Amino acid sequence: MKFHTEDIMYPPILKLTEAAKRYVASPDFLDLGQGLPGHIPPDKALASLRERLSHPSTHLYTTDQGLLELREELSLYLRQTAGIDINPQTELVITAGANNAFAGAAQTLIGPNENVIMPTPYYFNSVMAVKLTGGNVKEIRTNANFQVVSEDIEKAIDANTRGIFLVSPNNPTGAVYERKTIDSIVDICLNHDLVLFSDETYSRMVFDGSSHYSPRLRRDATENVITIGSFSKDFGMSGWRVGYVIGPSQFIEQYLKVQDTVTICAPTAGQLLALEVLKNGLDAVEQEIERLNLLRELAYVRIREIDQLEVIRTSGTFYMFPKVRDCTDSSALVLDILQSTGTLVLPGIIFGEAGEGHIRISIGPLTPEAVDEAFDRLYSYFTT
Ligand SMILES: Cc1ncc(COP(=O)(O)O)c(C=O)c1O
Repeated sequence: MKFHTEDIMYPPILKLTEAAKRYVASPDFLDLGQGLPGHIPPDKALASLRERLSHPSTHLYTTDQGLLELREELSLYLRQTAGIDINPQTELVITAGANNAFAGAAQTLIGPNENVIMPTPYYFNSVMAVKLTGGNVKEIRTNANFQVVSEDIEKAIDANTRGIFLVSPNNPTGAVYERKTIDSIVDICLNHDLVLFSDETYSRMVFDGSSHYSPRLRRDATENVITIGSFSKDFGMSGWRVGYVIGPSQFIEQYLKVQDTVTICAPTAGQLLALEVLKNGLDAVEQEIERLNLLRELAYVRIREIDQLEVIRTSGTFYMFPKVRDCTDSSALVLDILQSTGTLVLPGIIFGEAGEGHIRISIGPLTPEAVDEAFDRLYSYFTT
């Protein structure tokens, strides 16, 4: 059998989960690999959903675009939290998560042999999504603070370039791209008629007085910008598979062909839950973000005790992406850390060549005690 997927990487997390299986069952296992914040949706929202479970409509498809009430509530939320104006009838589709959204956007917009410029370290699924369309990724390295350099993007453009893919706040580095950088990338897209794919999955997880700037705020560029969002992280509902994509109405019309073929609609119960959280659960979401803020403070204090880890403090997400002194094989290192300490972190290499020599530490699902325990273990691993 011949497969079109052969030159696409195998899902790296699946591989690692396989390797970690033996350790996961142990009561001492500590998971700093999982890219999740640890909370679940607030009780009030869950109780309202429970009541809707006996309605027949909860068990049926919604329209491809998603429940209108959810689209309207989400538009209001984005207006209030990010200043973004969208028409919920024509510019928004509810998707089965952000991955589904950017894979669908890539299928809608990228053709075989076209390329997309992507800052690296990258979120591996964005690369896989581009490659699944038959397109290519042109990697450009971020700078020492994990910021994108817009001049490097401009230099990487060639005749086959279709777009630029940004993730801010970033996975794995936590970098929040500066407003002036995003503005100059938007200008590049306008000058070269490129699409800017903006994955804003972590848009609410911005700390240290920094703020998230969405390129969708540029009213002169709404024809060129595709915005991708998720309910998985802020709302703690990754298993419900709900996200969204925002774009100009002509894009949405085309996107619906992919949506109808691949998923038809996002899971109905998940859409209802997202609606409940938007209507009644935003205080609880805020509290979780504050909890992450405190965890980050603790983690940044503790990580500095470990000389072998050179960390750059970034202002977004619950990830840290330190460079490990003298490490040239992060996969081997991560397995050794797991075997020696029962602690799972992710190898930087899965985020591209630029990530080699780093590890990704996720503190999202941990208690403060577990953060302490994790850094105690890493301290002894690296200092003995
Ligand atoms: C940057 C980024 N985009 C998208 C996703 C996936 O989000 P969803 O669960 O909504 O598909 C993740 C998950 O880790 C992510 O880090």
